[in-house]
Amino acid sequence: MAEVTNAVKSPQSLTLHERRMKAVPKAPYNITQVYVESAQGATVYDIDGNRYIDFAGGIGIQNVGHCHPKVVRAVQEQAAKSIHTCFHVAPYESYIELAERLNEITPGSFEKKTMFLNSGAEAVENAVKIARKYTGKPGVISFDRGYHGRTLLTMSLTSKVKPYKHGFGPFANSTYKMPYPYYYRAPENMDPDSYDDFLLSRFEDFFVADASPDEIGAVIMEPVQGEGGFIVPSKKFVQGVKRICEQHDILFIADEIQTGFGRTGLLFGMNHFDVAPDLLTMSKSLAAGMPLSAVTGRAAIMDTPDAGQLGGTFAGSPMACAASLAVLDVIEEEEIVKKAQNVGKQLMAAFHHLQNKYELIGDVRGLGAMCAMELVEDRNTKEPAAAKTAEIVKYCWQHGLFALSAGMYSNVLRFLPPLIISDDELNEGISILESAFESVTK
Ligand SMILES: Cc1ncc(COP(=O)(O)O)c(C=O)c1O
Repeated sequence: MAEVTNAVKSPQSLTLHERRMKAVPKAPYNITQVYVESAQGATVYDIDGNRYIDFAGGIGIQNVGHCHPKVVRAVQEQAAKSIHTCFHVAPYESYIELAERLNEITPGSFEKKTMFLNSGAEAVENAVKIARKYTGKPGVISFDRGYHGRTLLTMSLTSKVKPYKHGFGPFANSTYKMPYPYYYRAPENMDPDSYDDFLLSRFEDFFVADASPDEIGAVIMEPVQGEGGFIVPSKKFVQGVKRICEQHDILFIADEIQTGFGRTGLLFGMNHFDVAPDLLTMSKSLAAGMPLSAVTGRAAIMDTPDAGQLGGTFAGSPMACAASLAVLDVIEEEEIVKKAQNVGKQLMAAFHHLQNKYELIGDVRGLGAMCAMELVEDRNTKEPAAAKTAEIVKYCWQHGLFALSAGMYSNVLRFLPPLIISDDELNEGISILESAFESVTK
């Protein structure tokens, strides 16, 4: 069984933890009580010298690995030249070059434009503003179990009341939710194909009962639901939604904030579905930890808001753009997309092996290296095993592995390791995970 490396027991971490509890409110929560000293590749070290295999990657930020030398060098060199002039005051080449590169690599062979923001939520906010301005229609449809951020609008588009929305209403007007497939929990006797048909048919009812298509400017969809529990829709469903959008002059926004930059085994999640979104939001692994997000879209749509209508003081900062350009180089040079496919294969094989051993694992699913296990008390009733999921996450970090939970019922273990992770590190992490199942089910 893996050895306990519980950092909280050591004096340095304990003291820092006490200071944290005193100085910082509890709402910006911590999954672990690991106080970081440094991070490299797929490994994190705490202030007590403990080592952790990182299967969380800062929640999907570190596709190219922590502190990739090329990214560090780009940031250091940029910091020595200029940290901030504000793009709106005095622009710089890295912003433009990064926009050019994203216009090139995102799905869709039409002319595109890109603008930058700081966070994922901000990218979603801006995509919606652009869609409203272009269509002249305020309504936005998101999906059950979707996650788009914590600002007022993005929280309104997000599902899961606790913890994200509870007590924070009223929510933004003209936001609506539609069902998104969840094949593991589909109604009994409904095969996936009929289930897709049924969900797509809900749009027709929605346009009669809730809002007319001439009031809906955009549909926003995650290619694979992230916080919702790594739920992969079918090509038929995604293409069906896109078709409905086209029929009614509704823009299709792909939220690729968690799925982007190789995570799903292709550069973008939408590549799996052969759908080119009108607008696409990116963040997380875009700049390997420097705060940066982007909206890329059809040039005519992106150009609808007038000069000065969009932006932000720090949006597309020189340091973040420099980091991101380095990330894009690394993705190409180190064949990160291919690596994701390999990581995904190994994780899925290990998870299926665990599923054969532990009744607790009801479902194993994923796309590329976006892999998850859904835990249930009983495979027949599928009662969510949220408490055991939390126990496993805790066991993991106390034994040297970062793991994350997700899902509407908080019963999904999801994994977002850096894609450069070595086979040895991957196996080490999987063996800690196996010990966690052994401990929780004994
Ligand atoms: C799909 C998706 N959209 C939006 C967001 C919000 O990003 P941020 O936390 O940077 O605001 C997230 C964050 O997890 C996400 O996964």
